[in-house]
Amino acid sequence: MAQLWGGRFTKETDQLVYNFNASISFDRKFYKQDMEGSIAHVKMLGKQGILTEQEAAQIVAELKKILAETEAGTLEISLEYEDIHSFVEAKLIERLGDTGKKLHTGRSRNDQVALDMRMYTRMEVVQTDALLKDLLQTILNIMKAHTATIMPGFTHLQKAQPVTLAHHIGAYFEMFKRDRLRMRDIYERMNYCPLGSGALAGTTYPLDREYTAKMLGFYGPCYNSMDGVSDRDYVIEFLSALSTVMMHLSRFSEEIIIWNSNEYQFVEIDDAYSTGSSIMPQKKNPDIAELVRGKTGRVYGALISLLTTMKGIPLAYNKDMQEDKELTFDAIDTAKGCLALFQGMLATIQFREENMRKSAMLGFTNATDAADYLVNHGVPFRDAHGIVGRLVLYCIEKNSSIDDLSLEELKAISPVFEADIYDAVSMETCVNKRLTTGAPGKEAMERVIALEETYLAEGKPFEEDWEKELLS
Ligand code: ARG
Repeated sequence: MAQLWGGRFTKETDQLVYNFNASISFDRKFYKQDMEGSIAHVKMLGKQGILTEQEAAQIVAELKKILAETEAGTLEISLEYEDIHSFVEAKLIERLGDTGKKLHTGRSRNDQVALDMRMYTRMEVVQTDALLKDLLQTILNIMKAHTATIMPGFTHLQKAQPVTLAHHIGAYFEMFKRDRLRMRDIYERMNYCPLGSGALAGTTYPLDREYTAKMLGFYGPCYNSMDGVSDRDYVIEFLSALSTVMMHLSRFSEEIIIWNSNEYQFVEIDDAYSTGSSIMPQKKNPDIAELVRGKTGRVYGALISLLTTMKGIPLAYNKDMQEDKELTFDAIDTAKGCLALFQGMLATIQFREENMRKSAMLGFTNATDAADYLVNHGVPFRDAHGIVGRLVLYCIEKNSSIDDLSLEELKAISPVFEADIYDAVSMETCVNKRLTTGAPGKEAMERVIALEETYLAEGKPFEEDWEKELLS
């Protein structure tokens, strides 16, 4: 048992209590952020004359070494320490003696862990954004290649009207684009530094909180020290945004699973992204899409779990908050893994254009356009709807599609039909006449694709230079 406290205790901690309380098995994940936070803190202590410049320089140099050794794997973060904060301080004292004992001047583990968690989460927000951007690029590539690939659009999973693959998949572009906006939004709101909040009431040392905040890439310090140590809103917001990402991925996965089925055969998932059956030799299963759909529940679980943990906590820090970590780390790793795998699967998937087109042809997806044709020739819409309904019934009985009927057959149902009906209900006409912004018509789609291309090329980068400067 290696812990930072014990002066006021007369008994050793019970081993089970120690194990229950310790967090190093999971908070070692943010060792880097912990060490960087300490480097900034000590630099500030030196500048403020709270430590001598020489002491500060010595501690900073040793912290950098500890960081480098940990990254290289030559220094192991062993589980004998209570948490990552104790580990770093213990190593420093081991190496620097009394000078090492000055690291924690003017700081509490409460503001330290608040800082570490915030910096770790912030880094993951940026990485999630980058993965989303890669996925958007893959989607846009598919959109560009398939503005003329006809497929049925569905409502109630019933064939409705013809669309194009570019249009269908473009819906997901918009979803993941909003997910990126959410990442940016969370970043903007979370990027304030809790360091210097102390245990809860700040400190009597003349800390320069603006200085540490700037060194660590924050916009500035948090304005209330009690809020600084006990705010986990940004984690909840991130988990909420990740849940939405997963919901989008899960819907998309569900479609791919359907499209990949024998009945649809709209896509063929690449061998590298499929799995086989141990008993049925013919099987090629969409396991990746199924796992993404399945893992969605796990990420939702993390969100609900943390919301529930936080709901009854009085100000300021309480140990309950240690529970924010494992589930958040798991949710982040899960969502990032899903984003990367899904992107790989999508980039290699084969679209079976002929089957998509055939499916659109056979599903009366042009029935609305046939009704519109009658309307354009003076038939009131409600009557037109009834006529085309009878037409569809006739086709079902004959097992054919509207385009397959002879003009005589069409005229028998309504004399208004003329030879130009065939062109009016062709798949191409149905799609390409839909030219309002956001519709599947080729020209409308191309206008949107150009806008999305500009959107992907532009974009304000996240501020990451602080790290180079801090560690130089
Ligand atoms: N492991 C703790 C956590 O994750 C660090 C803060 C400990 N603070 C304390 N007052 N015991 O929240």
